[in-house]
Amino acid sequence: MSTKIYLSEVMMPSQTNPSGNVHGGELMKMMDSTAYAAARKFCRSNVVTARVDELEFHTPILIGDLVTCTAEVIYVGHTSMEVAVNVEVEVLEAEQGPQHALSAYFTMVALDRNGRPMTVPKLVLETDEAKAAFEEARKRHELYHERKKQRELQKQMKKQEEGKG
Ligand SMILES: CC(C)(COP(=O)(O)OP(=O)(O)OC[C@H]1O[C@@H](n2cnc3c(N)ncnc32)[C@H](O)[C@@H]1OP(=O)(O)O)[C@@H](O)C(=O)NCCC(=O)NCCS
Repeated sequence: MSTKIYLSEVMMPSQTNPSGNVHGGELMKMMDSTAYAAARKFCRSNVVTARVDELEFHTPILIGDLVTCTAEVIYVGHTSMEVAVNVEVEVLEAEQGPQHALSAYFTMVALDRNGRPMTVPKLVLETDEAKAAFEEARKRHELYHERKKQRELQKQMKKQEEGKG
């Protein structure tokens, strides 16, 4: 089973533009760190980020806001894991409570001591929600492989064309 990892931080002036909006890169770094911890805890080895899908900023985040990232491994392939990362923002002086701010899917690859991709444990899917999330992630993983194959095929064809000329 995969456990959720949480990371919270109050946004400071060094993380914002002159109007007080938090830089996207600051939030992406927090998300990456949370995804890293979730993946590393899941496979108990070193991991690197290979890809980020569907990064969407829904709500502006301002100086002084409390940002909380939540990360959970939702899919495993052979050596890769997909981690869903959600970000909530809370205006601490308001009564509204946390609001959904952004989300993304991080593909993390487990590496052995020699820096080579290594097999990750199986993911136990206990709920229908977890099964649905796994299936969605599996489709993204397959799409990546299809596109990679197409790119390699195009490269080969271009080489052959150049060889003829
Ligand atoms: C990620 C990395 C280790 C993959 O190495 P590789 O030799 O290409 O390995 P493979 O082709 O065997 O891929 C390993 C797994 O990663 C997945 N993967 C690799 N690149 C990917 C990408 N761009 N998008 C999605 N998945 C990817 C593959 O699907 C495969 O998953 P699976 O075993 O579950 O099917 C390598 O490309 C790398 O080191 N990239 C740089 C990572 C980095 O520096 N990140 C930023 C700092 S953390």
